Order: sequence, then C-alpha cells, then structure tokens
Amino acid sequence: MQVKNICCIGAGYVGGPTMAVIAQKCPDIDVTVVDINEQRISQWNASDLDTLPIYEPGLKEVVSQARGRNLFFSTDVDAAIAAADMIFISVNTPTKTYGKGKNMAADLKFVELCARQIARVATSDKIVVEKSTLPVRTAQAIKSVLSETGNGVEFQILSNPEFLAEGTAISDLLRPDRILIGGETSEKGEEAIQALVDVYARWVPKENILTTNVWSSELSKLVANAFLAQRVSSINAISELCEATGADVREVSKAIGMDSRIGPKFLQASVGFGGSCFQKDILNLVYIAKTFGLAEVADYWEQVILMNDHQKSRFATKILETLYNTVSGKKIAILGWAFKKDTNDTRESAAIYVADELLEERASIAVYDPKVKEERVFADLNYLESRSAEENKELVEVQNDPYEACKDAHAVAILTEWDEFKSYDWQAIYDNMLKPACVFDGRAILDRAQLEKIGFKYYCIGN
Ligand code: NAD
Ligand code: UDX
Repeated sequence: MQVKNICCIGAGYVGGPTMAVIAQKCPDIDVTVVDINEQRISQWNASDLDTLPIYEPGLKEVVSQARGRNLFFSTDVDAAIAAADMIFISVNTPTKTYGKGKNMAADLKFVELCARQIARVATSDKIVVEKSTLPVRTAQAIKSVLSETGNGVEFQILSNPEFLAEGTAISDLLRPDRILIGGETSEKGEEAIQALVDVYARWVPKENILTTNVWSSELSKLVANAFLAQRVSSINAISELCEATGADVREVSKAIGMDSRIGPKFLQASVGFGGSCFQKDILNLVYIAKTFGLAEVADYWEQVILMNDHQKSRFATKILETLYNTVSGKKIAILGWAFKKDTNDTRESAAIYVADELLEERASIAVYDPKVKEERVFADLNYLESRSAEENKELVEVQNDPYEACKDAHAVAILTEWDEFKSYDWQAIYDNMLKPACVFDGRAILDRAQLEKIGFKYYCIGN
C-alpha cells in the first residue's frame, strides 16, 4: 500500500516539525496537521514565518518550502481524519495531575479522545500511528477503542516514537540515528509497517529503520529518555563531588568521555535537566515498574529525578549562601529561561525552579531570554502557585536587553546555555552591577579566568 494522505493530530513541538519534514521529503503525499488550538494553527499558517509557534533552527525554511504545496495546517480535525489513509497521533501526554497515578502516570486522555474521534469519523481503513510517547501496551487500549466503531472499518496500529531533541529538531529529523517502527506480526500488520517504512525510506537509509513488535517500540522510547536523563543526573551528582573535592567536572567529563565505551555526549554538568520529556517519561517508567510490583526497578529510576531536583535546589541555595544568606530585596538577573538553547520551550526548565526558590526568599528577579516572551515567564511562575500573580508581577521583571537585566544586580545566574551569553561585554555588565558582583554559571559555559580578572566572584557548577 502506498500512503497518499497523512493526517497528524497535534501541531506541537513534535507534530509540526515532523510533518513539515515528511511533507518536504514526500511532495506526492498530502500532509495535514490538525489541532484544536486555533491560535496555534493560525500561527502555523501566518505569512510571517518568524511568528511560527515554535522556534527551531531551520524550521521556517522547511515550512516555507512545503506549506501550501502539500503541507497544510487546519482546525478541521474530522475532515483531515476522513481524508487520510495514515493518521499520526502526536498529542501531549503529560504527567497525570489527578486520580490514580497522580504525579507519575502519563495522562492518556488526549490520546483516547483522538482514538474516539478517529473511530467516530473514519469510513475507510486507516493506519493509526502512535507518535506521542506512550506507556507500554497503550496500543492495545487504542485498538480496543477503535474496534468499537461497528462500521466495518479496519485499523492497524503502529508505534513510531519520536527521538528528536528540541533545538536540533530539524537536523535530527533529516538525519535520525534510527527510525523505530513497532507493529503487529500479522499480514496486515506487516503491510502497515511497510507503508510507514516506505515513507521514511525516501530520506533515511534502510539500515537505520528498525522494526520491532509494538511493545518493544513503546518501551524503547521511555528507556531511551531514561538512559539520557540518567547520564545527566550521573554527571550532576559528580559535579557536587567536584565542588567538594576541587576536581573540575569539565575535566572529569572529558576524561571519562574519551573512553569509547562511555562516549563524550550528554556529560555536560548543568543546573539540572528540563524539557517536557525526561521527567515525565521517567515518572511514567517508575509508575509502570511499580504497577508490576518491581519496587527496586522503580526506586532505581526514581533516583534520577531526585538527583535532578537536588541539583536545581542546591544551585538556588548556593546563590542564597553566597549573597550572605539573604537575597530579600536584592536584584538577581537570570540569563536564560528556556530549558536549553535554541528553543523557546520552557516546560520544566530549571530556571523556573531556581527563580521560584529565590522569589520565596523575596529576591527581585530580572529575566532575559533571547526567545522566550514575557507572558511565558509569568505563566510559568504563576502555574507553580507559590505566590499570587500580583506578587510575581511585583518581584519579577522581564527584559528585552540583557545589559538592562543585569544593571544594578548583585548577581547574574546563567540558566540556559545560549551561545550569545559567551560573547557579551562582561566588563560593561560588571561596571553596572552592585559589588561584590557575582556570576553563577549553571551551565559551565563562561570563561572563569576572564570573569575573575574583571573582578567577578565566579561560581561554576562542578567548579
Ligand atoms: P505539545 O503540547 O507541543 O503539542 C501537542 C498538541 O496536541 C497541542 O497543540 C494540543 O493542542 C494538541 N491536542 C491535544 N489534544 C488534541 C485533540 N484531541 N485534537 C487535536 N489536537 C489536540 O506536545 P509535544 O511536545 O509536541 O509532544 C507531543 C508528544 O510527543 C508527547 O507524547 C511527547 O512526550 C512526545 N515527544 C515530545 C518531544 C519533544 O521534544 N517535545 C520529543 C519526542 C516525543
Ligand atoms: C529529549 C531527548 O534527547 C530526545 O531524544 C527526546 O525525543 C525528547 O527528550 P529534549 O528534552 O528536547 O530531548 O532535549 P535534550 O537535548 O535531551 O536536553 C534535555 C535537558 O537535559 C536539557 O535541559 C539540557 O540542557 C539537559 N542536558 C542535556 C544537560 O544538562 N546536560 C547534557 O549533557 C545534556
């Protein structure tokens, strides 16, 4: 079977870029990305490509090539489902905030709603592809919802988790380490797998397209994120030991990363990992392990999260202690609000939690991030409910100019590794700060010798 029409439900950080690349690489396939969020869809359709809802290097070029040709963004979910022969479900699967599995399990209500909508609307056979990250065996639940249609339509369910990282989404999509496709071993299942393989094979070498059973595919996604996050927590644990012993975590990372069995990637000590995936997916893994009565497995992985929480908190404590145990009324500049560079995404960003702890101490915070808007910063802080929106407004200012953000501050905290921070005029920043002026480098990106020469008190995560 050759796929001619694709629908993707969910125009977010995964659905948007992934479908843009599929459309770019497969001009003969119509790709429609649908969402219930009208504002998001109108931003995807905006003529000014600088106002796309997502900032990703290279994204606007891909969108401009395919949009209107074979890439469409729409709120008409029913019409897109009806027309498609392959439907990707790429909706959010956040951690549950209520009921059984609260604060651990993945909330699958959006996925189930999609399945119900597909069941209601479809009048011809479809391949349904799980693109969202889902707990192992979710395909079974989707299948059961879809099989209740009673109108004779047949569905094949595939698992095709997405491994892109934000900030490098387009290059990850164009040159993925692997494409993973899980499906049933029946004849129809294998046909469906082949149909999806043929889509990716337009630009991904066949040897990088891995097919497995559905459960292995679903679980592999959670495990990949757990292993990546575990590396960050491992090096962060060592960063605290480095600070206690005088070793330098950057030197330790380099030394261990040169061992080809360990490898150099994902060994950058930081103020803690953020993003919408790592914490959510590990909590989900922990929950699944607990559900199967595997207490030791659950505890082992939970430690990755506990270490990450500790890292964020000890960074805030370091600022407080260095500023003589009181930051009340003191201005602290935060450079970087996104959870990593080259994205405007702030979900679970370490900056939110560090700012929150400082605000609880009544510090005045000035935030600058090259891609994050003021409304987002306040939305993130208000969501925590630690203080009222009015109090946050009183204590926090968001600046468009980093030099203004740092002016009259006692300290600057680097919370995202944006490249531009390295080329600032740090002498000018120092001159306009209160003394002693401190820099807390939560990403270990600045030049200690240069800053200390200027006169800064410099603290770097892991030395
Ligand atoms: P997102 O929140 O950016 O986007 C999800 C979109 O789905 C939203 O725009 C929402 O309005 C829409 N939506 C929800 N229910 C809908 C419905 N019933 N009908 C139509 N639209 C609906 O989320 P995301 O970051 O794109 O993540 C999507 C999935 O991909 C998640 O399961 C996530 O774990 C996984 N994932 C994310 C990343 C990442 O880097 N963000 C990477 C790999 C996998
Ligand atoms: C992650 C996975 O990498 C990706 O494969 C999956 O599809 C989605 O989740 P993402 O969260 O977008 O991607 O970014 P990633 O580059 O993994 O960074 C996650 C967090 O870890 C960021 O806050 C980053 O700053 C932090 N990190 C990463 C470190 O602190 N140190 C490192 O060495 C690497």
